[in-house]
Amino acid sequence: MASSSFRTSAAACAALLASSVRATNAGTNQPADVIQQRMFGTGCLPGPFQFDAYPTCVTAASEEDVPWAPWTSRPYCADNTSYCAFTNSDFQGPNRGVSIIDVEPSSIENASSAVASIAKLLSSPASAPPPASADESSPPYEMRDIPGKGKGLIAIRTIPRGQVFMIDYAALVVDSQLPGRVRRAQGVELLKEAIERLSGAEEVLSLARSSNEPESVSVYEDVMKTNAFTVEITGKAYMALFPRIARMNHACKPNVITRFNATTLSNIVMAFRDISPGEELSISYSTFGLPSAERQEKLLSTWGFKCTCDLCSLPPDELAVSDDRRTKVARLSREVINLVEKGGAENLKKALELYKEAVDAVEEEGLVPHMGNHYQVLGQLWAAAGDVERGREWVKRAKEETAAFEKQINV
Ligand SMILES: *[C@@H]1O[C@H](CO)[C@@H](O)[C@H](O)[C@H]1NC(C)=O
Ligand SMILES: *[C@@H]1O[C@H](CO)[C@@H](O)[C@H](O)[C@H]1NC(C)=O
Ligand SMILES: *[C@@H]1O[C@H](CO)[C@@H](O)[C@H](O)[C@H]1NC(C)=O
Repeated sequence: MASSSFRTSAAACAALLASSVRATNAGTNQPADVIQQRMFGTGCLPGPFQFDAYPTCVTAASEEDVPWAPWTSRPYCADNTSYCAFTNSDFQGPNRGVSIIDVEPSSIENASSAVASIAKLLSSPASAPPPASADESSPPYEMRDIPGKGKGLIAIRTIPRGQVFMIDYAALVVDSQLPGRVRRAQGVELLKEAIERLSGAEEVLSLARSSNEPESVSVYEDVMKTNAFTVEITGKAYMALFPRIARMNHACKPNVITRFNATTLSNIVMAFRDISPGEELSISYSTFGLPSAERQEKLLSTWGFKCTCDLCSLPPDELAVSDDRRTKVARLSREVINLVEKGGAENLKKALELYKEAVDAVEEEGLVPHMGNHYQVLGQLWAAAGDVERGREWVKRAKEETAAFEKQINV
């Protein structure tokens, strides 16, 4: 790659410089050293290349104090837009890297921007923490062809509920506003630069595409649209691409959930429930808990595919039951919040009754990996409604439930 040959020639340049300094200091000044010093001066040539073996001073100097560090190449800025692509091609190893597409450098000085936050991560010595608990050498899954879905990941060993079995890092982070703020060709150009500069560009470009007209849509745009998720960094929404997580297909009742850390750009992947060998690993691409019509609409508009997971494929009557439960949870939650905000003993009692119903529906529908948060709220509602003893019991149950789940998440 260009960057490694660049480094080699700069290293040769530095070595030459060191040897000429050594020679001078030692007072040896052998003819060969003098000639070398005269010809090559500080070990590099001024101006454009004259001898291939020696880099120009400009090149050599820029390698010493890369002006655009921690980025490994000059940020690419699209003409007439305020957007640039910032890349560190080495983040998380030789076949990875990370690129951020965000607003122009002037705003980058802003210490609270996502680019500044990511730059800080890249500059810190511990920017590449070893993939902690997940045993990367023998993962409990493998990639296989899945009929009708392209590729997917299949469990090859039992993965117990709550186990973290994969850690992935963002390879691309793109301001969610980008598509609305630049012309399409410019957006594609930014994506192309952002992806091609990654040392792991090939892996990204091999991900699934979903466009109906792949020949008229650029691969960069198609891959991003098909595989990116929305994440929040420094309070702003970004589309982020996680190449390994992207290998998992969608399910409305997923067996896997992810947890994103905006500081480290990591996304840990854990089992939502016990997963048996042979089961496909799946995540929810749409907002969790949506009823089927909204789910379909969201998946189609955002990811360009029709939902065919087990839940979406249920017979109509069973699907209706699931939809009812999901709609009910959303409705009850809104009502409970209203009642709690109004306050007063009567409203709190009513809120408690409604919340119990909601919790039952959440449990039946399998909407959460553990009930800890819901039990916690239930406990607080009992206490608020006057039964402190029962409130304590539920809070205790909540703690146990949460601890049992979190125990296995040791990252
Ligand atoms: C940028 O704007 C200038 C002036 O309006 C125009 O000449 C140029 O073609 C534009 N470049 C791009 C890439 O749109
Ligand atoms: C810095 O960035 C934050 C978050 O993006 C934004 O709210 C704030 O207005 C910016 N400040 C300046 C001076 O640009
Ligand atoms: C993200 O990771 C950092 C560094 O490991 C840690 O200090 C921080 O608490 C994590 N944040 C979340 C929300 O887990």
